[in-house]
Amino acid sequence: MATKKTSESKEKNVKKILYVSSEIAPFSKIGGLGDVVGSLPAAICKAGADVRVLTPAYGAANGKGGVLDTVRSLKNSLRKVTLPVVVALGGIPVYCTIYETEIDGVITWFIECPDFFSETIYPFSVDSYSIRPFILLSLAALELYRAVKWVPDVFHCHDWPTAILPIALEWHNHYSQLYNHSKSVFTIHNLAHQGVFKPEDFFYQTGIDKNCFNPNGIEFYNSINLLKGAIIACKSITTVSPNYASEIQTYEGGVGLDGVLRTHSAKLTGILNGIDVDYWNPETDKSIVSPYSADDLSGKRINRSELIKKCSWEDDDRPLVVCVSRLVEQKGFDLILPVIPRLAESGARFIFLGSGSSNIEDGLSYAQQIHLDEIKFFKGYDEELAHLIYSGGDMFLMPSLFEPCGLSQMISMRYGTVPIARAVGGLADTVIDVDSGNSSNGFLFHYYAQDSMMRAIARAIDFFADNAKWVELMKRGMLTDFTWNRSALSYLDIYNRI
Ligand code: ADP
Ligand code: GLC
Repeated sequence: MATKKTSESKEKNVKKILYVSSEIAPFSKIGGLGDVVGSLPAAICKAGADVRVLTPAYGAANGKGGVLDTVRSLKNSLRKVTLPVVVALGGIPVYCTIYETEIDGVITWFIECPDFFSETIYPFSVDSYSIRPFILLSLAALELYRAVKWVPDVFHCHDWPTAILPIALEWHNHYSQLYNHSKSVFTIHNLAHQGVFKPEDFFYQTGIDKNCFNPNGIEFYNSINLLKGAIIACKSITTVSPNYASEIQTYEGGVGLDGVLRTHSAKLTGILNGIDVDYWNPETDKSIVSPYSADDLSGKRINRSELIKKCSWEDDDRPLVVCVSRLVEQKGFDLILPVIPRLAESGARFIFLGSGSSNIEDGLSYAQQIHLDEIKFFKGYDEELAHLIYSGGDMFLMPSLFEPCGLSQMISMRYGTVPIARAVGGLADTVIDVDSGNSSNGFLFHYYAQDSMMRAIARAIDFFADNAKWVELMKRGMLTDFTWNRSALSYLDIYNRI
């Protein structure tokens, strides 16, 4: 599109990037995607780009309720953009209201359309009807310029819910012409979710040219595969750790798309996630009982006691192994659940916080009934409690089957809680085993097997007995640089290159 650059952007030749995402912390976070979109844009703005965000105002109507109320409750001022964004779905205009706010220096637009963006973020099953909110989000991003008078140079999309945007830029007759100079970057946060469904009325609803329904486009075994389409259509693919970038190009890690990814490997980069180190900061965290730092760890002991009290346990010196996680296959619960009796006898105590699959929830509930003094399960999503657990634990268990990056191991290290993790994906890029030398910060195991995990837990419990060595390990994790600084520059480089 012939862009009318704002005078400021023109002067500094600053790249204008629009992040389009189905989640943003703290307003609509389900997992790490929300954390990333809630913190990376500010880091890239600081590094020298003009990044803005478009994301749904879930559960809001007429400017009230749901996400919009949360925005206001956090003392952010919210302005209704005068013009609506109008998207044609199946030839019928859908009117969306845009609300603008500024968060950490990042202009963030919330799109309100109550019939599409309800309280539930992701549909239970994916089909051409249930994905309509994400069709709307992607196409609204392409129409947004009319309402906000700002045209991005690059659209940066995340995972299958926003995969329709790069697909439309390539294969929608109108948008491909309108945006002939705008590029798209597509980040794979999790290759396991691809947005696969039968075409039905998808092409009619979106206006995307159905000629792209072929093996070199969005077709995948007679279905539409949005992730595949975005991989092919975008100008640059990133994923969230260098190791995962390699893994997804193998048959074992490619979830059926390894061939497509190998074909497009020249535009694939693995960039390690960072975390918001101001938000995840044991020195200033308002959700924990006592602040602490690597220089003075005394407060950590107080949080530990508080966490033990919350479990209705007696305070003692047995190591506390904690886990804050979505309860899904990816996170390794089929290793954990069968060895519950061995965990209970290991000499450590185990605290789980999470929600997800009812099988895993039931398994953990049962485990705590049988092992009242060794296993505790807090069912649900609880941001406050997560902070107390990160700060009160001694070790953080993350035995993932696969892990694109993983933020929890970094958050736990920042709180001096030493990770015990499987050497896979981003865990292998961020956790360094105690046996590999001076820069170690945790315990790793390689094989996805119960015994391998148990051996790593046993090594951690042994190590814990030597307090001086343990404190050294904690401090190394706490002092590691988990900021976005370096990765923000890598993203900036990609925006400039394309
Ligand atoms: P994923 O995105 O695969 O869930 P990550 O490690 O990247 O894994 O990010 C998980 C994020 O979600 C972390 O911020 C973690 O603290 C948070 N989280 C996961 N489950 C819960 C829960 N039950 N309550 C609070 N926070 C949770
Ligand atoms: C996904 C991945 C996780 C990653 C997060 C943020 O949810 O499962 O490993 O850290 O996205 O990129």
